[in-house]
Amino acid sequence: MHVIQIENISKTYGEHFSLRNISFSLEKGKIFSLLGPNGAGKTTLVKLMLNLIHQDAGNILINNTEANNKKSRLGVAFIPEKFNFFPFYTAYGVLEFFGTMKGVQADLLKPQIDSALKMLNIDELRNRKLSKMSKGQIQRVGLASILIGDNDLIILDEPFSGLDPIGMRDLKDIIKKLKEDGKTLFINSHILLEMEHLCDEVAILNRGELLFKGPVSEVLAKEKSLDDFFHKLINQDEQGSK
Ligand SMILES: Nc1ncnc2c1ncn2[C@@H]1O[C@H](COP(=O)(O)OP(=O)(O)OP(=O)(O)O)[C@@H](O)[C@H]1O
Ligand SMILES: [Mg+2]
Repeated sequence: MHVIQIENISKTYGEHFSLRNISFSLEKGKIFSLLGPNGAGKTTLVKLMLNLIHQDAGNILINNTEANNKKSRLGVAFIPEKFNFFPFYTAYGVLEFFGTMKGVQADLLKPQIDSALKMLNIDELRNRKLSKMSKGQIQRVGLASILIGDNDLIILDEPFSGLDPIGMRDLKDIIKKLKEDGKTLFINSHILLEMEHLCDEVAILNRGELLFKGPVSEVLAKEKSLDDFFHKLINQDEQGSK
C-alpha cells in the first residue's frame, strides 16, 4: 500500500524557484529520505504534503486521501526543521499538549510521555522550561513528540540537525524501532552517510527537479557510496543546466 503518492506536483515561488513536475510514491513501512542541497525544495515538498501551502498543479495523496482534506493528517506526526514551542512550556508540558491534541487518553498519556522522555534521554529535563534548554535539548523534546499517540507516518525535516553524536545514535535507534513497528518514515536530510545506512529508499532533488528515486541497494549497485552517487548526480545536473 502507498502511504504517500505525489503526482505531477508543481509549485512556483515568484521568479526564483519552482518544484517542477514531481512524481513519486512511498510504500508503507519504509524509511525514506529526500536528499538535496540547500534550497532544492525539500521543505517545500513537505509543506505541500501537510497542506501548509498549496501546489500550482498536481495531486498529493496521504493514505489515499488528498492532502487538502484534513483527514489525510490523521496518524501523521511532523517535526519541522527547527522545532520550537512556547518557551514557558516544560518538556513534559509540550508532550502533554501534543498528546491531548492527538486525543491520547489521559491514563495512557503519562506512561507514553515517561517512555518518550527516556528514549530521548531527556528524563531529567522533564520539568525544565524550553527557555532554559539548549537547542539540541529542545530538538530532543520535539523528537520525543513523535512517540506520543499512534502515528503511522512520521515526517521529519532535518531531524539530526543540532544533535550531538549520542543524540544522533538515539534518534537512529528510535527510527529503526518505529520501522520495526510498521511505521513509515519520511526524512529530509543532508547527512548522506547516515542515510545510506538507515534508509530503504532515497530520492534526490536539485533546484526543484527530481533526479533520482529508488532503493539504496540500487544506488550502491551503481556507486560505492550514496555520497559518491549524490555528488555525481548533482554535478551532472549542474553541468547540464549551464
Ligand atoms: N515563502 C517563500 N517565498 C519565496 N521563496 C521561497 C519561499 N520558501 C522557500 N523559498 C525558496 O524556495 C527554494 C526551496 O526552499 P526549501 O526551503 O524548500 O529548500 P530545502 O531543500 O528545504 O533547503 P534546506 O536544505 O536549506 O532546508 C529556496 O530557493 C527558497 O529560497
Ligand atoms: Mg529545508
